[in-house]
Amino acid sequence: MQEIKFYSGENIPLELHKTRIVQKLHLVPIERRLEALYEGGFNTFQLSTKDVFLDMLTDSGTNAMSDNQLAAMMQADDAYAGSQSFVRLQKAVVDVLGKQYLLPVHQGRAAENIISVAYVKKGSLVPMNYHFTTAMAHITDKGGQIVELLYDEAYVVNSSHPFKGNMNIEKLEEVIRYHTPKNIPFIRMEASTNLIGGQPFSVQNLRDVRTLADKYGIRLVLDCSLIGENAYLVLQREDEFKNSDMGTVIKTMTDLADLCYFSARKLSSSRGGGIATNSEEILKELEALVPLYEGFLTYGGMSVREIEAMSVGLYETLDETVISQSPGFIKYLVEELDKKGIPVIKPAGVLGAHLDAMQICAHIPQSQYPAGALAAALFLISGIRGMERGSISNQRDEYGNETYADMELLRLAVPRRVFTLSQIKFVEDRVNWLYDNREMIGGLKFTYEPPVLRFFMGKLEPVNDWPQKLMAKFKEDFGESL
Ligand code: F0G
Repeated sequence: MQEIKFYSGENIPLELHKTRIVQKLHLVPIERRLEALYEGGFNTFQLSTKDVFLDMLTDSGTNAMSDNQLAAMMQADDAYAGSQSFVRLQKAVVDVLGKQYLLPVHQGRAAENIISVAYVKKGSLVPMNYHFTTAMAHITDKGGQIVELLYDEAYVVNSSHPFKGNMNIEKLEEVIRYHTPKNIPFIRMEASTNLIGGQPFSVQNLRDVRTLADKYGIRLVLDCSLIGENAYLVLQREDEFKNSDMGTVIKTMTDLADLCYFSARKLSSSRGGGIATNSEEILKELEALVPLYEGFLTYGGMSVREIEAMSVGLYETLDETVISQSPGFIKYLVEELDKKGIPVIKPAGVLGAHLDAMQICAHIPQSQYPAGALAAALFLISGIRGMERGSISNQRDEYGNETYADMELLRLAVPRRVFTLSQIKFVEDRVNWLYDNREMIGGLKFTYEPPVLRFFMGKLEPVNDWPQKLMAKFKEDFGESL
């Protein structure tokens, strides 16, 4: 990556794109933000964007699209079967992911459903570096279980370990031997491990996983939703690849997997998803499920316009100036927060900055959801919408007991090429204020708890009147400022 130095010596990320289409934002008064929280059950998924200033909920489907993506959408070939748009997508998947066969699906979790329907049954165990909510929900839905096998350092917040997403190879072998390979339909590796703060694995680690998969005859499934970012951090952090390029690193990783799947909402700044493989056997095992759950094999539930945007977006994944923008802003934000002593996941990962609610809200017990409370408090005092990635995002065990999350995080997503640096500075400023007033944040309790993926639709309420008190303090300090 070429470096761009400022004469002043200031070290800030520089945008290598310009903005040509913009969307007006609204920062509504704090009184309205408080009302919106009550209306949405203190769950940031339940907020309406008319009340949100900076939407840092996710990068999923919210990355900025390029001029070339929009242009490609105009030449889409509408056809139920045999669309040329799909032919172009197949070629992009061969060129970027190195896989000959592509099964299209409407988004990442649809791929997880199909893979789970095909391979998971009661008694199955799927070892993985770490779960993602939807991947786990689909596996448990089919009667299977998951086991997470990260090294201990993955859970260290203030760390400098370059590859916290690495699979614990010794534990993986132990698990395979104990449960026996016949009960393990596949091993799942997730690029840029989402729920522990967007942390990558090394190519060497993936090779070691492949060695065990071969030794025991188990499929290796790679969740490629954030593979561009994982590859970018490999270029930065893994010696063997310091003079390599995005394309080589991505293909080195995908070559090691029997089956790759992805959410195109993330991978290619578009919509949709896919399952890709070079194995005819795997193709045959999964193929029939696509028309059943998604749509015909040349559109898989997507519009052809999305398919065109996806092809271009896949090629753009090879451009370091596209992929580095979000990690560059995240690094800036993480370093600025860290300088002020605010507990934040380090080293800076991808997807977003992750605040450690376990420390920031150490006074709130996990049974009152510190990360959910922090998300609500930050929205209240700033209009910034983050996402709880803690115990609310966990699912109850098979006996209905709470399973408290290993980490209580508030994720502030930085979608690709969406925000400006002054907006990121606003985030830093308001997080700082909230940190200084953190003792005023209180807990939450469920008033409505859905049985599956409860974090999406669940409703909560504050345990007392802490939001009103926090609002009063904000008004004392900021006066009439929004
Ligand atoms: N795998 C990973 C690693 C993901 O981050 C996601 C989605 C999925 C699979 C599912 O894909 O949403 O297209 O069905 N992550 C989003 C997020 C929702 O906000 O992190 P999907």
